[in-house]
Amino acid sequence: MMPFTTGVDLTAFNTLALPGRARAFCRIDDETQLADAARADGPRFILGGGSNLVVTGDIDRLVLHMAIPGKRLVTQDDEAFYVEAGAGENWHAFVQWTLAQGWPGLENLSLIPGKVGAAPIQNIGAYGLEAGDLLHSVTAWDFEKRAFFQVDRSQCRFGYRDSLFKQEGWHLDGRIAITRVVFRLPRQWQPNMRYADISQELAARQINQPTAQDLADAVIAIRQRKLPDPAQLPNAGSFFHNPVVSAELAALLKSEFPTLPCYPQPDGRIKLAAGWLIEQAGWKGKSLGPVGMYEKQALVLVNHGGACGEDVQRTMSAVQAAVRERFAVALTPEPIFL
Ligand code: FAD
Ligand code: EPU
Repeated sequence: MMPFTTGVDLTAFNTLALPGRARAFCRIDDETQLADAARADGPRFILGGGSNLVVTGDIDRLVLHMAIPGKRLVTQDDEAFYVEAGAGENWHAFVQWTLAQGWPGLENLSLIPGKVGAAPIQNIGAYGLEAGDLLHSVTAWDFEKRAFFQVDRSQCRFGYRDSLFKQEGWHLDGRIAITRVVFRLPRQWQPNMRYADISQELAARQINQPTAQDLADAVIAIRQRKLPDPAQLPNAGSFFHNPVVSAELAALLKSEFPTLPCYPQPDGRIKLAAGWLIEQAGWKGKSLGPVGMYEKQALVLVNHGGACGEDVQRTMSAVQAAVRERFAVALTPEPIFL
């Protein structure tokens, strides 16, 4: 049986820096350990970088910290490079490595915290690109079947911050552990500058024909301006999804609040900017106890120091109530509650 450490404090393992002791904790450095871990009794949780997590208190679970390393070119053909990374690789370092190898494509997802293995779970996205757009396949261990399985992109049912893995609830009960992810990076590359923030940043840098690295640098600069560094001010990025509402409700709100940002979706519904709703509801830069909404980006919930899971839930509920009262819109949290 593998060595588990008991009573490990998770404060350093989540970017909101929330305290909580895990009943047992084990670092997974290679695939062979998973069969062993499957023999352990009781509930489990799969932990990556802890950057999309709310630790609510002590946890009566076996926490498996995914640290499987490895980055390699699996194969290439006339059209694309197929690049694989282990679940424990740092996402941003992986993206920068692909760019340095001359395999562009993932640059708009630069500087997203966390590990490669978590990227398919909520289909991480930023600046007009989602991981699922370029993902080729995922390999995972199924703890119930005690076997590895592989799913390709079409089976992953990717959506906005959504995937097969979330739809099946596997992220909540630790049913599967993603071990490796392969991306298909087409040789034919076009800069993705759909987001106004990016084109403005490149214009300010007087770059007309950007390379993939230019885009990465622009994204990094924008993110550093807007988002707090968890090492300085603990946070989990956007704390709520941007709500997607019916066209009718969006039109009604727009008539009452003409500056409301609205983003039409392919299915006819409208995505609203949660950060705008929260700011208008008076919560930008406001705190309740040690937990508040960031002064430069109202969608980011921050721990000003010493907060616990209950403090986070209190502020979360107050923000949800304020937005519901003002706009009749429900906000759903993005992080996973452990
Ligand atoms: P964790 O927080 O450890 O886990 C998240 C979930 O995934 C949990 O349910 C966990 O059980 C599951 N999980 C993790 N690894 C595995 C695995 N190997 N197998 C099975 N399940 C697993 N997200 C975006 O989409 N876009 C952004 O622009 C963005 N910006 C952010 C900015 C900041 C400053 C921060 C702090 C967060 C941001 N996030 C963003 C959220 C976060 O970075 C992503 O959700 C990221 O993918 C989480 O990775 P992680 O390894 O930290 O996962
Ligand atoms: N806004 C405000 N006030 C605020 C914050 C935002 O009015 O305090 C307005 C902005 O002016 C803009 C709109 O809201 O009109 C959108 O803001 P922004 O471009 O900053 O992006 P976002 O919608 O808040 C989303 C993702 C981010 C991702 C960025 C860039 C979600 C939940 N969040 O944020 O993802 O990096 O777009 O693509 O979809 C994350 O998921 O953790 C995350 C950081």
